[in-house]
Amino acid sequence: MAGSSSGLRGNRWWRSSVGRVLAGVTTVTAVAAVLVAAPGADAAAGTLGAAAAQSGRYFGTAIAAGKLSNSAYTTLAAREFTMVTPENEMKPDATEPNQNQFTFSAGDQVYNWAISHGAQVRGHTLAWHAQQPGWMQSMGGSSLRNAMINHIQKVMAHYQGKLAYWDVVNEAFNEDGSRRSSNLQSTGNDWIEVAFKTARAADPSTKLCYNDYNIDNWSYAKTQGVYNMVRDFKSRGVPIDCVGLQAHFTGGSSVPGNLQTTISSFAALGVDVALTEVDVTNASTSQYAALTQACVNVARCVGITVWGVRDSDSWRSGESPLLFDGNGNKKAAYNSVLNVLNSGGTTTTPTTTPTGTTTPTTPTTTPGGGSCTASLSAGQSWSDRYNLNVSVSGSSSWTVTMTVPSPAKIIATWNVNATWPSSQVMVATPNGSGNNFGVTIQHNGNRNWPSVSCSTS
Ligand code: G3I
Repeated sequence: MAGSSSGLRGNRWWRSSVGRVLAGVTTVTAVAAVLVAAPGADAAAGTLGAAAAQSGRYFGTAIAAGKLSNSAYTTLAAREFTMVTPENEMKPDATEPNQNQFTFSAGDQVYNWAISHGAQVRGHTLAWHAQQPGWMQSMGGSSLRNAMINHIQKVMAHYQGKLAYWDVVNEAFNEDGSRRSSNLQSTGNDWIEVAFKTARAADPSTKLCYNDYNIDNWSYAKTQGVYNMVRDFKSRGVPIDCVGLQAHFTGGSSVPGNLQTTISSFAALGVDVALTEVDVTNASTSQYAALTQACVNVARCVGITVWGVRDSDSWRSGESPLLFDGNGNKKAAYNSVLNVLNSGGTTTTPTTTPTGTTTPTTPTTTPGGGSCTASLSAGQSWSDRYNLNVSVSGSSSWTVTMTVPSPAKIIATWNVNATWPSSQVMVATPNGSGNNFGVTIQHNGNRNWPSVSCSTS
């Protein structure tokens, strides 16, 4: 099948490129690459991450630090996913086991693994009634309020500039749409907005999310409660950039028919929306297809994350709710998700990051030493990365050399053979797809376009 071969081609490109890049650097975290090359618009992608990337989305998973020594687990995760959420390693009990003593070893392990495999990271989570360290559980009043603020400041400072999203507040509502009783809630109803304001000040570069379960059904009271809070925050200028629908369709719940309405209604408030912890009882193919379709139909639905890699990794493993079985085999639901992602969907238009612009600088066109010319034009752009289209004229047997300004990196290519003399330089030759190809550049703060030159062989 064309799709499979394209995806495999992408994987081979990535693996061989990383091998070359690795040889030239001293630390794994210095490597920037993606799991797969983005496929051409006319080719079906062969992995979840590559398929989602066609419309600018990510496809993610929860990763547990304790499983990173399992090569079956990491091979699968590296191949398929482009966003990583640490399953437990960035929660308050993990990062601040004793008051004001922070430990990031497990969180860093997951972060470093993700980045070295080209995935982005979603921080999870800063303020939550559950998984608090013992010292925090017994706290209340102003000392807890101050401890929450200190926790957010210190943890976000450690990951400053590194994370795509942070779940600032998790699961703060009751099923009836009222606020959940907790020690955090008892510090005052404004605790959630204080958490978001603290987070924005601590790291203006990351997107700040509210995350919850059972907010998928638009007519459900809890959904309305969260929606009203987000609407209120937006109207008063409380910084919030995104809403995560956990989308646990296990334990008796299932995908509601109005999921797309929920997603588009939140998006209409001016926030990114994501499905952040997806699992489905017995991995129903129709429900997985429906939830994927609901996301890709909404421009601001930026991605889908499943809550674990294989069924055996799931917090609800008894319901076999994930896309791979315990042996790492693709399940039918995997194909249903992949097919929906490959069938297109609205190109995502995430909100811009709180600081900075997503617009690259003016294109450059550089005639080469031979009779060919490479021209750049803008493709899609996102908060952290942008696409460029490269058009070669003058000869069909060309070599284009592209040099990106540090610390920007080329993280994907399509319709071209690419080699990497260094991490900043790509040499591209035709792969039979014609004289137009594309690249995705992760700008890392430098939005100047690369220089290109063209020569004939
Ligand atoms: O690591 C210890 C181990 O040393 C010990 O022997 C064992 C005995 O209980 O516990 C292990 O820790 C467990 C940990 O998962 C790692 O497996 C904790 O007990 C257990 O409570 C913890 O559960 C996590 C749960 O959050 C806690 O609330 C799940 O892994 C994690 O998948 C789950 O994730 C949550 C999201 O953060 C928020 N939304 C719901 C979702 C599912 O509950």
